[in-house]
Order: sequence, then C-alpha cells, then structure tokens
Amino acid sequence: MKVLCFGSLNIDYTYKVDHFVGKGETLSSESLQVFSGGKGLNQSIALAKAGARVYHAGAVGEDGRFLLEELEKAGVDVSCVAVRADVRTGNAIIQNDREGDNCILLYGGANQAVKKEQVDEVLTHFDVGDFLVLQNEISELPYIMEQAHEKGMKIILNPSPMDEKIAGLPLETVDYFLLNEVEAGQILEKDLSNGFDGERLAKELLARFPHAAIVLTMGGDGSVYMDAEEWMIQPVCKVQAVDTTAAGDTFTGFFIGGILRGKSVREAMELASRAAAIAVTRRGAAPSIPFLQEVESFLK
Ligand code: RIB
Repeated sequence: MKVLCFGSLNIDYTYKVDHFVGKGETLSSESLQVFSGGKGLNQSIALAKAGARVYHAGAVGEDGRFLLEELEKAGVDVSCVAVRADVRTGNAIIQNDREGDNCILLYGGANQAVKKEQVDEVLTHFDVGDFLVLQNEISELPYIMEQAHEKGMKIILNPSPMDEKIAGLPLETVDYFLLNEVEAGQILEKDLSNGFDGERLAKELLARFPHAAIVLTMGGDGSVYMDAEEWMIQPVCKVQAVDTTAAGDTFTGFFIGGILRGKSVREAMELASRAAAIAVTRRGAAPSIPFLQEVESFLK
C-alpha cells in the first residue's frame, strides 16, 4: 500500500522573538534561521520517518530545489513534485516566542499553482486502497479529493490552516480527519469561546461524518480518537517546549504511519503523541521531526 501526500512545500524563515510583533510595532529579532517546511513537506517527512513508503506531490519554484533534497534524504519519492520556472516557492514567516509558541504568515507561491493536469497525471500512479494525505495549503483541493475518492483511495484530511475554503470541500469523502479543537469547532460552526469538551466535539463530528475516523488534538490536553466502533483518549507527554512548529504535522505523520504499519489505534496514538513531544523540544519545522527508532526508545 502506498501513501501519497499532495501538499505544500515552504521555505520557513523563523525569527526568534521575545513576543509576537503587535500592530504598529517594530521589533528586533534575536536570530533568523531558514528551515524546510510547509505542512505537506513536514507530514511527508514524518510519514517517512515513521516507516511509511511515501510519495510527495506538489510544486516549488527554482528556489525550492533544496526542499526536494530534504525530502529525498528522509526517503520520500519526489518524482511527482513539479519544479516551475514561472513562480517562486511558497514561504512562511514564523515568529517563535520565548514560550516556544509560534505564529505564522504564509505566502502560497508555487503551492497555489497546482493545476488539474498535474493532479490527473499524479493520480495515475495510485490505486484503490492507497492513502492520500492532504492539508489546506495548495490549490485544487476539491478536485484532488473528488478524483482520489473516485479511484477508491483513502483520504486523510488535516484541515489546516482553517479558512472558508474548507467548507467547500467534499468532506463526506474523508476517511480520517486529523484536526484540533478550533478546526473542529469551525467545521461544526460552533462557538468555543466559553471552552469545549473534546470528547463531545469528536462525537459531534462523528455524527456529521459517520464513516470517518476522528483524531482530535487538544494541545496540552492530549488527543481523542473516535470512530463508529472505538474511542480513546491519549494523554499528552509533558516536555519543555522550545518551538511548537510542526508538532501537529509530526503527530499526523506518525499516527498515519503507525496505522499503515498495522499498529492498533492505541499504539499509533501513543507513537504520534511521543513523536510530537520530541518535535517541540527542537527548533524548526522538518528538522525537528524525530526518527521512529528515537520515538520507540523514548517510549521505553
Ligand atoms: O505546520 C507548520 C508549517 O506551517 C510550517 O512549516 C509552515 O511552512 C506552515 O506551512
């Protein structure tokens, strides 16, 4: 069984700051580091490091060739990534504050230049039962989902970053939703400003999409898994965070990687939560993602 991650590739410019810059404020940063990133690239690398056979599809400009080398180093097949001369690679301006939290400003670039013709060509290499992992940082998502569903591929959606385009997707084709409480609340059109109950949110999502499995991550409060037959709560693993960038991507890659390797839901959730915990103790997006061996010994 193959896994295709059709998603973004970004150059991440990460600024270490005391606090996030405010409206009208000019703030000096302590350092600037350039990392490979993009939710798609991060999830492909996490999947590969978790032991899956991964193919990445998407687009970069000429300035993003080093991102392909990063993917290849992790064992990801990049033959479905288009290198385009007419656009620049997507990028992200990331502020990383003293608590280890981040805020991100995106420029789509080549990620928003994915065309239907590329989608058609890429999907000829995949078949019924293969997994398709998606996020919300590339163009033509509705078309990709419709075509993949028609082929009988299993669709995994991480609706991040959440925006109005998510409501226009054929969400009934999704087999696994991996999302946080804010994204869940927005899909359900619920106001969470007075707090939320993760288990109840997952139940409501499942009632809306009864054929899907729901994996709801809640930051420091752990995560909930729920499908029509089973449910469980995975507590968070407490660590000292220095940079939370790509923690969610690491969780997604290791959870799906575990399922693909025949692990039980419980084992895959535990693996994912430990991998994400390791990732937040390191700086950067893709470079912070651990290898399976490390995650397994962390478990012991
Ligand atoms: O999830 C983290 C990622 O979000 C970063 O690598 C950045 O590129 C944005 O896509």
